[in-house]
Amino acid sequence: MKDRLFGKPVITQEAMRKRVRALGLQITKDYQGKNLLLIGVLKGAFAFFADLCPAISLPLQVDFLKVARHSDKRRKDGGSISISSNVSLDLKNYDVLVVEDIVDSGYTLTFLKEVILAQHPKSLRFCTLLDKPERRKVAIAADYIGFVIPDKFVVGYGLDYKNKYRNLPYIATLDNISDDY
Ligand code: IMP
Ligand code: MG
Repeated sequence: MKDRLFGKPVITQEAMRKRVRALGLQITKDYQGKNLLLIGVLKGAFAFFADLCPAISLPLQVDFLKVARHSDKRRKDGGSISISSNVSLDLKNYDVLVVEDIVDSGYTLTFLKEVILAQHPKSLRFCTLLDKPERRKVAIAADYIGFVIPDKFVVGYGLDYKNKYRNLPYIATLDNISDDY
């Protein structure tokens, strides 16, 4: 894979490794004595999730859910969001930390907060690899953020464009993406 095919790398593998290690240490500190359950949001968070887990030195458990977004530009909220595959565990006993790839408009995080709180976890927090605050449509913030990035469409390290580029080992901008992605 030639870099130029994917535009400019915005976050290198080395920067990512460093940041994931720091996040792991912080989460380890914050969740001492808790019953930590990491929930990965598929598909985008898979690469970040796989690296974050071993960076946390706690006897945590893992689970996954999958979100389906049906975009509809005519709707104010950008379309409907649903859970297409839910977690398998009963969340009541867990301190849940949801692991996301990126927070953009904030609709997905807002939706996840509502549906997960309805399952009564002991506590709920969010960790995202990337945050694009300039694109926010609803006021919501993640508790742990890997990198704040400008309003540019990015791919790699789990993030896709039309389901491709997820295997790129770093985060890169993709050129020629329309502004209303
Ligand atoms: P939100 O509901 O608008 O915050 O959208 C979050 C979802 O949109 C993410 O989980 C991604 O799947 C997708 N997304 C937003 N921005 C990007 C990007 O720059 N690259 C790839 N996917 C993105
Ligand atoms: Mg996506």
